[in-house]
Amino acid sequence: MEQLAQIKKFMQNNKKRSIVVLISGNGSNLQAIIDKIKTGALNAEIKAVISNKIGAFGLERAKKAGILTEVFNFKKFQKNKINEKETTRKQYCAALAKIVKKYNPDLVVLAGWMLILTNEFLHEFPMRVINLHPALLPAFPGTEGIKQAIDYGAKITGVTVHFVPDEGVDTGPIILQEAVRIEEDDTLESLEVKIHAIEHKLLPEAVRLFLENKLKMDGRKIRFNAN
Ligand code: GRF
Repeated sequence: MEQLAQIKKFMQNNKKRSIVVLISGNGSNLQAIIDKIKTGALNAEIKAVISNKIGAFGLERAKKAGILTEVFNFKKFQKNKINEKETTRKQYCAALAKIVKKYNPDLVVLAGWMLILTNEFLHEFPMRVINLHPALLPAFPGTEGIKQAIDYGAKITGVTVHFVPDEGVDTGPIILQEAVRIEEDDTLESLEVKIHAIEHKLLPEAVRLFLENKLKMDGRKIRFNAN
């Protein structure tokens, strides 16, 4: 009997868990996840990559890795609607949730996804959506985290991976963070290179921690579960 329980536990621990990745652009962070899966360090399957941008390079990366892709463009969706933009955005997010649900993912990863998701999407995947942000939150939220840090004259910035439980922009519970120093001769481009290098490490690691059930909620804090 005990042996049976052990086998069951082994099977559960070794069950490949699935993710859907949402992108809007280059997809270098998607690539980092693909590569980590290839090395065997991440026991996961990417069920689909969905882009809101037609022609996003990340779609090519996904296809090359044999992953299913879909494009769901907001402007195209908006074209057939007569509602005001906010209502249409909610409808778009509800429709996007339906698309993602088809794949029944354990986790939804926003890897450079540049469209704010409404609760019509987020409430379908409670505490199962994570996002990557190129700054040390709560500093410099929003779309231009790297530029904001430079313009502000910050000496340190970094990368954050966090949950997206609701519509608050970059406000969800923090999973991982890593700092990077802004040197005097850093430009937007040179800092981007440093930030990306950290992102490519942190995002796959956060995915691994989530899929291995290593993350535990404590109020709004995320603690790491050793088991
Ligand atoms: C990353 O810097 C991410 O932090 C930001 O968008 C960028 C996406 O890069 N939200 P990529 O498409 O993964 O190369």
